[in-house]
Amino acid sequence: MRFVIVDPQFDGEPIAERQAVGSEVELFVQHYDPSRPVDPGVLASADALINYRGRHAVSREVLQRSSRCRIVVQGGVGFNTVDIEAAAELGIPVCNVPNYGTSEVADHAIALTLALARGVVAYNDRLRALDDAWHAIGLGSVRRLRGKTFAVVGLGRIGLAAARRAAAFDMKIAFYDPYLPSGTDLATGYRRAASLTELLGDADVVSMHTPLTRETEGLVDRRFVAALKPGAIYVNTSRGRTHDLDALYDGLKSGQLHGVGLDVLPDEPMQRTHKLLREWTDRAPWLEGRMVVTPHAAFFSPPGLDDLRRIACETAYLYLAKNELRDCVNLAMLKHRR
Ligand code: NAI
Repeated sequence: MRFVIVDPQFDGEPIAERQAVGSEVELFVQHYDPSRPVDPGVLASADALINYRGRHAVSREVLQRSSRCRIVVQGGVGFNTVDIEAAAELGIPVCNVPNYGTSEVADHAIALTLALARGVVAYNDRLRALDDAWHAIGLGSVRRLRGKTFAVVGLGRIGLAAARRAAAFDMKIAFYDPYLPSGTDLATGYRRAASLTELLGDADVVSMHTPLTRETEGLVDRRFVAALKPGAIYVNTSRGRTHDLDALYDGLKSGQLHGVGLDVLPDEPMQRTHKLLREWTDRAPWLEGRMVVTPHAAFFSPPGLDDLRRIACETAYLYLAKNELRDCVNLAMLKHRR
């Protein structure tokens, strides 16, 4: 059995993968150059395709070329770069790895919130640049979090983990998630908003935790920003195409948004062409302490990455060797086809 691992987030030998599947499986690591498609011969040799990051799309064409492939595992939570409908038509289950970095991403959402509310980055930058910055602690961007509302859009695994953390900072928690059953508010003790607009109107910090879907793509637009409580902090560790940088720029300029913490961008890797990213790069004084960007790194910790690699391989192996399917994201489509 041959597993082809495309665009891995590691260099060197596939040690974690080998530990997960033993010697029975041949592991082939395909590093990826976004300017070229993966060699069709490599795709055609795969019994399982394990795909990392969002750069290499597992399109209908890639699936058709992977003529031997019986399972696709997207190494991560988001599977928006895999054509799950085409896979179902071809009878191929697509699985993700939802359980490797939940706590890291939740920590990161809180880290971005704290970095903005406590002025961590701005103080650090000032101190590095100026000796007399020691006495300049009256940073206008600093906020009190206690008693404020932490608003979660998408109270799934990560949203819930972030909410629990925010509650420990004495924040009130509210959420909007139309797909959760009635009673989730009672089970968690968090206030459920009846609509997104209602949630936003009450939000001191709003943290995005939805998947990227047709519904959430571009959700954070001018209307979203206008619906926020004036002076809110916006944090996104989910997917960059959920937000529109023009809307964030205008929101920051007008003060409607107090700060933004972004781990994800509509175009990754970051292009500095958009005025928001250009002015942030140039350290525009009006943005001081009001914007923090990290490179889609919320998931990362060395043990988290090891878990991701191990679980991704185990998922493919369990199916191929034992016919056990877990975390399949196109199961309903596969059943419908049968
Ligand atoms: P999850 O599937 O457990 O939770 C997502 C929640 O969003 C669900 O409860 C769902 O009902 C809700 N939802 C869906 N559409 C919605 C809408 N229109 N409005 C409000 N709620 C909606 O997913 P999980 O594991 O919590 O992951 C959340 C996000 O985090 C995903 O987008 C994933 O791609 C992203 N992620 C980002 C990472 C990073 O490094 N920045 C790493 C891992 C995940």
